[in-house]
Amino acid sequence: MNKLTKLGYRIYQKILYVAQAFLPINEPEIISGNTALNQLVKRIHQDQFHHVLIVSQAPLLALPDVVNFIGLLKAEMIGVTIFGDTTSNPTILQIETVKDLYLQNQCDAIIAIGGGSAIDLAKGVGARLARPNKTLQQMKGILKVGKKIPMLYAVPTTSGTGSEATLACVVTDSLTHEKYAINDPVLIPKIAILDPRLTLGLPIDLTATTGMDALTHAVEAYLGQSNTKKTKQFAIEAIQLIFQYLVKVYQEPTNLDYRNHMQLAAYKAGVAFTKAYVGNVHAIAHTLGGMYHVPHGLANAVILPHVLEFYNHAIDSKLAALADLTTISKPDQSKHEKALAFIETIKTMNRQMNIPTSFDGIVKDEDIEIMIKRAMAEANPLYPVPVIMDKKAFKRIYSLIQD
Ligand SMILES: NC(=O)c1ccc[n+]([C@@H]2O[C@H](COP(=O)([O-])OP(=O)(O)OC[C@H]3O[C@@H](n4cnc5c(N)ncnc54)[C@H](O)[C@@H]3O)[C@@H](O)[C@H]2O)c1
Ligand SMILES: [Fe+2]
Repeated sequence: MNKLTKLGYRIYQKILYVAQAFLPINEPEIISGNTALNQLVKRIHQDQFHHVLIVSQAPLLALPDVVNFIGLLKAEMIGVTIFGDTTSNPTILQIETVKDLYLQNQCDAIIAIGGGSAIDLAKGVGARLARPNKTLQQMKGILKVGKKIPMLYAVPTTSGTGSEATLACVVTDSLTHEKYAINDPVLIPKIAILDPRLTLGLPIDLTATTGMDALTHAVEAYLGQSNTKKTKQFAIEAIQLIFQYLVKVYQEPTNLDYRNHMQLAAYKAGVAFTKAYVGNVHAIAHTLGGMYHVPHGLANAVILPHVLEFYNHAIDSKLAALADLTTISKPDQSKHEKALAFIETIKTMNRQMNIPTSFDGIVKDEDIEIMIKRAMAEANPLYPVPVIMDKKAFKRIYSLIQD
């Protein structure tokens, strides 16, 4: 990639950075704690909605706290329509089905209860309701929705994506296996319910990988070139919390206090990357999710250390600062040594949580070309990454994660 192309990308990113100050990127209102979900009933009543669409998944709808919540809604005479078949990596077809469900039942608000998949499905439905004449494909990229979506309450049950705080909606085209993001401030949920009780039953492998997704958001946001004081601060706080609590929650999954910290971390990381963006790790992870259904958090967890090592000296100062802030560095270490210690900590966390270092045969040679094309198209020129990666660089990362 020649220098002029890279310069063009940087100019594009700078223009977006300046323009962003004028966009209505608001944080959702948070209702948090062990009674948060119950408090939402009162809130919906106050907001005067009459019929809500709940987007979720069968196992989550069977959780006692969720059953109780739906009962309370009905007791308040609020109509409830339920879609319980969200799949991981939600598809365009699903979004169309659920949009029809919303219209057929004359719903007036959406509640997403689940991980990033349920929340993103709900956002996709909102986008299609706001823009009935535009396909999701046409809304791919940034600022293509541009119209208010119905009221969206987001209730995360994983501590990972931060989708409850972000402007992103990640969807998959089941025909082409392309996974892409629709980014627009109108997609930021109005209210986020952070109720740690809902994450208690999250299996440990998903606890680990979704937590690493949150870490990837925070690290990629912090390393990017479009930070504000606040995005930096939130990214740092998220990284500190994740370093402190993720392995602990993996070892003691029923500890509500640890779960609470992880939910807050995922939220903060979401706020950070909504303005500061993610980076090359996510661009590659999305190709693996679209092509092979690799769970998003797992993809990021495996790819993150490889990409950080590839960046090498370009991120020494920033990773050294993070190493200092997470107290893993030693005073006599050089910046590069501190940066390596930071990467080593991530690798150790992965090891402690039984996350592999590669995808062991999943990534097929014949798919790499199209995945590189898609990853490059996602990352460039949008993501203000510390190092702009060309085709050769992406190829290197794909070969490292192949086996
Ligand atoms: N919008 C954004 O800002 C954003 C950011 C990052 C990732 N994403 C997207 O989000 C999706 C991934 O979301 P995710 O990682 O939260 O996983 P997910 O929503 O796909 O859920 C993963 C699995 O965990 C189960 N699960 C969820 N919560 C549970 C609980 N409390 N107890 C038991 N099981 C539970 C689900 O049923 C599912 O089988 C991907 O499509 C990814 O691309 C979106
Ligand atoms: Fe992510």
